[in-house]
Amino acid sequence: MLRRPRRNRKSTVIREMVEETRLSVKDFIFPVFLIEGVNQKIPVASMPGIYRYSLDLLLEEVESCLKLGIKAFDIFPAYPEDKKDKWATESYQPDTFYLKAIHKIKSTFPEACVMTDVAMDPYSSDGHDGLVQNGKILNDETLEILGKMALAQARAGADILGPSDMMDGRVGYIRQVLDEHDFTEVSIMSYTAKYASAFYGPFRDALDSAPKMGDKKSYQMDPANYREALIEADLDAEEGADFLMVKPALAYLDVIRLLNDNYNLPIAAYNVSGEYAMIKAADEKGWLDGERAMLESLLSIKRAGANVILSYFAKEFALLSK
Ligand code: PBG
Repeated sequence: MLRRPRRNRKSTVIREMVEETRLSVKDFIFPVFLIEGVNQKIPVASMPGIYRYSLDLLLEEVESCLKLGIKAFDIFPAYPEDKKDKWATESYQPDTFYLKAIHKIKSTFPEACVMTDVAMDPYSSDGHDGLVQNGKILNDETLEILGKMALAQARAGADILGPSDMMDGRVGYIRQVLDEHDFTEVSIMSYTAKYASAFYGPFRDALDSAPKMGDKKSYQMDPANYREALIEADLDAEEGADFLMVKPALAYLDVIRLLNDNYNLPIAAYNVSGEYAMIKAADEKGWLDGERAMLESLLSIKRAGANVILSYFAKEFALLSK
C-alpha cells in the first residue's frame, strides 16, 4: 500500500499538525440572561450551569469571562408579566433595566463586544416576536416597533444588534433607522435562517417567553427547507446585514455550509438552548462524556463553516482551553 492515511494519525503531535479545524475562544459569543434586581443568580432548570443574573452579578460574570478570553456577549432580558403588553412598549423605554444594563456593561468594560436581541417576545404579552392581531402576526406594523427597539439599543451602546424575529424586511428597515440617526457603526447580525425549532424550549423557560397561543411557524422557517435559506440570505445581504446567522446549529449544519459556500459575509451559528440541554442531560445521566460531546459538537459547527458560534458552552470551553 502506497497510501496509508493512518500514518497521519500515529501521534498526538502529527494529529495536531494535520488538524483542519481549530476552535478558539475568539470564535464565541456567550449568550447570557439578565433579570431585574440585586444579588440574584437563579439557575435555569433545563440548562445546568446557566443562570439568570441581576446586573451586579452579571458584571462579575462578564469580568470573569473576559479574563478567560471570551469577549463577546449576547444579552437577553427576562421581564415579569406585568411589564409586558401587546406592543412590547417596555422594549424601548430609555430607563428600562435591559437598556440601562447594556450601557453599564459597555461603560464598565469598553473592550467587551455587546450584542442585543431585537424581537418582541420578551416584552410581548402574546409571547410572539411580532405584533398579534386576530391570531395573525402583522409584519409591517412590527417593523416600526423593531425600529424603535433597535434605536434604543444602539443608543444604550450595543455593538451588534441581532434581529431574531424573522419579519420580512427588518434588516433593511433597522439599517435605515440606525443610519438616519448616525449609528452607521452599529452592526447587524441577522438571524437569517432561523427555523421553527423544538430546540428553543429551555430558552423560553429561561425567559418565560413561550407564545401564549399558536406557534411561530408563520414567521420562522420550516425545518424541511434548505433552498429557502438562500432567499433569506439574499435579502439580508442586500439589506445590509454584516453577519448571516443559522439557528439552530447542529440540526442545520448543511445550511451553515450552504451559506458559507454562497456568501462572502461572515457566517454565525447559534448552538441553541436545547442543544446545550441535551448534552448536559445525557452527561448528568452518565450516558456520554459531556465534555467530549461538547467539543465535538462545537467543532462540527465550525467545520461546517461558521466563523462565529453563539453558545452556552462558551465559558466552559474557555475554562477547558486555559
Ligand atoms: C426569540 C429568540 C429565541 C431564541 C433567541 N431569540 C426563541 C424563539 O424564537 O422562540 C432561542 C435561543 C435558544 O434557544 O438558545 N426572539
